[in-house]
Amino acid sequence: MSHRSLDAGKKLALAAAMAMAISSAANAADPVQARLTVDAEAAGPRIEPGVYGHFVEHAGRGVYEGLWVGPESPIPNTRGWRNDVVGALRQVGVPVMRWPGGCFADDYDWRDGIGEPARRPVRPNRWWGGVEDNRVGTHEFMDLAEQIGSEVYIAANMGSMPPRAMSHWLEYMTEGGKTTLAEERRRNGRDKPWKVKYVGVGNESWGCGGNMRGEYQADLHNQYATFLRDVVRVASGDGQGNDQLIDVLMERSGPHLDALTLHYYTMPGDWSKKGDATGFDAQQWARTLKSALGIEGRIAAVSKVMDKRDDKKRVALYVDEWGTWYDTPAGASALWQQNSLRDAMVAALSFNIFHRHTARVKMANIAQMVNVLQALVLTEGPRMVLTPTYHAFDLYQPFKGATPLKATLQAPPFRTGDVELPSVEASVARAADGSTLLALVNLDPQRPARVATNLKGSAQGRVLTAPAIDAHNTVARPQAAVPAPYSARAGAEGLALDLPPKSIVVVSVPAAR
Ligand code: AHR
Repeated sequence: MSHRSLDAGKKLALAAAMAMAISSAANAADPVQARLTVDAEAAGPRIEPGVYGHFVEHAGRGVYEGLWVGPESPIPNTRGWRNDVVGALRQVGVPVMRWPGGCFADDYDWRDGIGEPARRPVRPNRWWGGVEDNRVGTHEFMDLAEQIGSEVYIAANMGSMPPRAMSHWLEYMTEGGKTTLAEERRRNGRDKPWKVKYVGVGNESWGCGGNMRGEYQADLHNQYATFLRDVVRVASGDGQGNDQLIDVLMERSGPHLDALTLHYYTMPGDWSKKGDATGFDAQQWARTLKSALGIEGRIAAVSKVMDKRDDKKRVALYVDEWGTWYDTPAGASALWQQNSLRDAMVAALSFNIFHRHTARVKMANIAQMVNVLQALVLTEGPRMVLTPTYHAFDLYQPFKGATPLKATLQAPPFRTGDVELPSVEASVARAADGSTLLALVNLDPQRPARVATNLKGSAQGRVLTAPAIDAHNTVARPQAAVPAPYSARAGAEGLALDLPPKSIVVVSVPAAR
């Protein structure tokens, strides 16, 4: 039994005993009984739209084919970017895109990607295989960002290029005057400078970004950041459960960084055998959701270390790579995986967790946007499919910019083999129009849940569920896991919401007049 205060964990034992009694008395087919008590008080600063951000890396069919088909392609496109995918991304809203990697970023020379496309160099893609012909470079990516309406987060190379290369790239993109680099940009077809809001100073510097010690990375970060102007300076942070690295970076680089990063991948297995994206059983379902919930412990631990040296919370935490990572099927492009209802659950649980940590978590970027890892969109030639993860992002759109509210959720746990999970997970927020937003996730693949609340009035929204735990959308069956309308009306006892097994419900409850 868990009794979770969404901002604190008080009365745990009492609530646990109560719900255990409810749970053991219930028949397995009966709805799980949960209670959500919503407080009018804010639980933290607003949910930055950037936590619904994206990550686009030159890997597999993520950029080439998934997004870029080239201006000559028979697939309808605008200056090379495919119209179907860009349209879907515009609809779901992309507040920020991180590019060009990942590991790719620390092996990338921005000069390879400017100028006459036919003359651009062809390099091996060291991390993800094949070759990179640099057909998509700075001008093309910035065009994509403008077509989608997204802020730009440039992941710049600290691992294998000098600081001058990083500062020159920024100058090339953002300089409005008549410097040599700005004039070169103009000759390459762009007069007006672009806006670059965020610059990542290296990526996974502890690994593919240069295998550095924290102390060395911190010194290097300070050197590179010295030559950056008017951007949010993002230091590469943790991805291996290494709190000490965060401490070193905060101590040595604190004044030279505005944000640092956390990478967290969810998998049912481990790095040697991650598990399959479809065809899994209830145990794999439970292990995956347990792994997804683990991100909260990492955020809390990293935040605690940051608090030691930054109690005013000036430095933000960007979870700039998160999502599921399964074994790539034989014959598939690098990092390709199918995306099922389970992935949508992982997304919903992650959003709820980000909402609980808004004091630090100001950006999060799903890995990755199209055809790579936990993608929102999968493409097959000229066809495109929206994944259950896309629909989870869509359901949660009203939370962008909303203020999280204090709330207490009582919900019994359930057990699958050796894994115990809460049956229900929740997030509550106040939207700008005063309405209350509820996101409720029923993690139990077997039992429905009834969530009684202290709210009045009616709730309107959508539910995402499907008959099978691995339900997924394909070109042949694009509607296997799609949202349906959902509504509930308060009775004498207040508003109660019925959640189907393995479902995500997001509703809005209008402010009482
Ligand atoms: O997202 C795939 C890879 O995962 C990224 O390139 C890297 O930063 C991380 O290890």
